[in-house]
Amino acid sequence: MFPAHPLEAVTHAAPYPYYAALARDRPLYREPALDLWIASHPDAIRAIMSHPAARVRPPAAPVPPALCPGPAATLFGRFVRMNDSVPHTQLKGLLTDFIRGQGRHPEVMAWPDTGALTANDIDRYLAAAPVHAQAAFLGLPPSVYADCAADISVFLSGLPEVSAGPKTAAAHAAAERLQGRLESHLQAPQASPALRRLREAGMRADLAPALLAANLAGLLFQSCEAGAGLLGNALVLAGRRGLRGAVSDGQAEALVDEVLRTDPPVHNTRRFLAAGIEICGQGIEAGQTVLLVLAAAAMIEPEARWPFGALGHACPGAELARRHAAAALAHLLHADADTVSLAARFRYRPLPNARVPQFDFPKEPSQ
Ligand code: HEM
Repeated sequence: MFPAHPLEAVTHAAPYPYYAALARDRPLYREPALDLWIASHPDAIRAIMSHPAARVRPPAAPVPPALCPGPAATLFGRFVRMNDSVPHTQLKGLLTDFIRGQGRHPEVMAWPDTGALTANDIDRYLAAAPVHAQAAFLGLPPSVYADCAADISVFLSGLPEVSAGPKTAAAHAAAERLQGRLESHLQAPQASPALRRLREAGMRADLAPALLAANLAGLLFQSCEAGAGLLGNALVLAGRRGLRGAVSDGQAEALVDEVLRTDPPVHNTRRFLAAGIEICGQGIEAGQTVLLVLAAAAMIEPEARWPFGALGHACPGAELARRHAAAALAHLLHADADTVSLAARFRYRPLPNARVPQFDFPKEPSQ
């Protein structure tokens, strides 16, 4: 049965025929059950993404209100992903150059060889490995990889809160540690050539070091959930194929590319309208939110790399994400993860945009 709406599709067992029908038959419509506009055809998504009134954050809430004020709000508000116009364009160029120039080989989070990998081990690995790989890529010392992964996880847990509570307090503390750690890394005399170029370009553009450092933390943040989904969905595909044991780097990359084409980790993103707009013959009022169903657009344009977004806010980490996921997949297969059992029993985490499998969860009570 088709999911009832696009947010249900993210965790549906087989949403792709629904996505294909959605993009074909309902390219842009208002979904009353969600109080959202839904854009699913590539032309509609591009038209919204390129409209100046379509913003990456609600104009009245540039930062989730429950985080305000405090270090988590400051960190979130500095991320390139959460800004439009001038700060965005300046930072995006510098970060993209930094990622291209850093040129490190993927460094995989090692799994201590202490026996069979359990479903719980795999869940913990999915959450931590993408951030470890990204921390290594940034050139941080190995002694802080695990701290980075833990802090990103705590920071992420605080974001959905609707009012300040214990998770928000923990998110503030994690944000403060991330900001401090990345700032001292950015300013370190022994910084890599790419990091030094970033620092100097930032000075020339009059960007505060604190802003650049926050965006290095932003690279850790962006890699976490999507990276977990890419690796997890690749494990599921490996299991469905009966693939276990060591594979070549090429095989692991081919499997990750197949997952990006057939079962991507990010299905949706959003835009918030600062003014009323006319798109594809429809009027959308100021204050409305548009869900951009990237996974549906990919059904019409499978070669267009929709899982990584498009146009001005497209992901600058796509190549890294592919390489890091392939290296981690090869590592888990080499450690003899039982992919067949994993693919036989899993569910998806209840997330609105990312498709991330969870392998360890309690047995459902018998009927
Ligand atoms: C499987 C892994 C990944 C997927 C599927 C993914 C997907 C995406 C998507 C769809 C967007 C666009 C969001 C929008 O337009 O609203 C995005 C933005 C972004 N991604 Fe990724 N991403 C992944 C990994 C990474 C990694 C490893 C990095 C770090 C190097 C990264 C850094 C970013 C940044 C900084 C942005 C914001 C760009 C901007 O606003 O201009 N991503 N990503």
